[in-house]
Amino acid sequence: MSELLNVSNLTKVYRIGSLIGGIKLTAVENASFDVNKGEVFTLAGESGCGKTTVAKIILGFEEPTSGEIHYLGNRIDVLKDKERKKLFKHIQAVFQNPFTTFNPLRKVDSYFYELLRNFGIAQDLSEMKRIISETLEVVGISYNEFVDKYPNEFSGGQLQRISIARSLLTRPELLVADEPVSMVDASLRMSIVNLFGELVEKFGISILYITHDLMTAYYLGGKIAIMFRGNILEMGSTKQVLTEPKHPYTKLLIESIPQPNPRKAWNSRIKLSDLEEVEYKASGCKFAGRCPFVMDICKKEKPPYFEVEGTLVKCFLYK
Ligand SMILES: Nc1ncnc2c1ncn2[C@@H]1O[C@H](COP(=O)(O)OP(=O)(O)O)[C@@H](O)[C@H]1O
Ligand code: SF4
Ligand SMILES: [Mg+2]
Repeated sequence: MSELLNVSNLTKVYRIGSLIGGIKLTAVENASFDVNKGEVFTLAGESGCGKTTVAKIILGFEEPTSGEIHYLGNRIDVLKDKERKKLFKHIQAVFQNPFTTFNPLRKVDSYFYELLRNFGIAQDLSEMKRIISETLEVVGISYNEFVDKYPNEFSGGQLQRISIARSLLTRPELLVADEPVSMVDASLRMSIVNLFGELVEKFGISILYITHDLMTAYYLGGKIAIMFRGNILEMGSTKQVLTEPKHPYTKLLIESIPQPNPRKAWNSRIKLSDLEEVEYKASGCKFAGRCPFVMDICKKEKPPYFEVEGTLVKCFLYK
């Protein structure tokens, strides 16, 4: 499999509060990973771990503090507006909330025609219509039910499918999908996750799938990186990582998935915010404050990656 997107040593520091009294928060710390052609790569972790920040930097909405991003071997984090716009032909985004993706006062089809026009993809209206119909068909929406309508005339699930269709119009090689199903009705969620799977299988598209939901990640397969406080703590094949987690944090995350049995629901659910600041500032392992296996070295040094059965794990237990 060949490499499409390469993220190397990506770091993003935000300054929160006033310039003098504020604190620095390293939202992403030295994150490195590759997304290969025709592969799903999942970035998973709880809310606030830095997933969206990674997506924003890849899409050029934020500048990295340090690190580099390459697309097909070319550095893209330094691109200026005009080049960046050209890149959107190849890398497209799907966002969490389709109702904020589209302006409520604008007909949804106008976005499709505009995008085709901007990229000079079709010669005339009838060709545009053909491309739009074909693309809608991929997501299971017919042109007639789509045309001449405002966003609120669709259900959330339909509108998310439409937003996926829009992202496919330019025939991109990579989709960056940030929590694309978290606002979709639970009953429709799997059908949309399924659709992502089909895009990979049928069209060889690559997907950077960002989620806090390990179930959908498991379903999509491919590779996964588990993030915590801006750090990737474990990375490898999704199946391997989720069925045989190595890092104590990954294990806790998997245990905290709601169980079908209501009496077992939310066992050892992870609490956020109160600990967040302390953990972000920790100079050794970010998880040391909550890890049942913590050792002296964990508080003093940052664990590097250790390779265990093909999975990379940042934990001194595997030294
Ligand atoms: N523009 C910003 N300014 C300051 N802090 C931010 C900004 N954006 C995100 N953060 C902080 O960075 C951390 C990571 O946020 P984010 O990337 O949105 O996480 P996730 O997508 O995993 O929920 C959070 O603690 C968040 O509060
Ligand atoms: S490095 Fe130490 S504190 Fe961190 S997860 Fe491993 S054992 Fe726990
Ligand atoms: Mg997010």
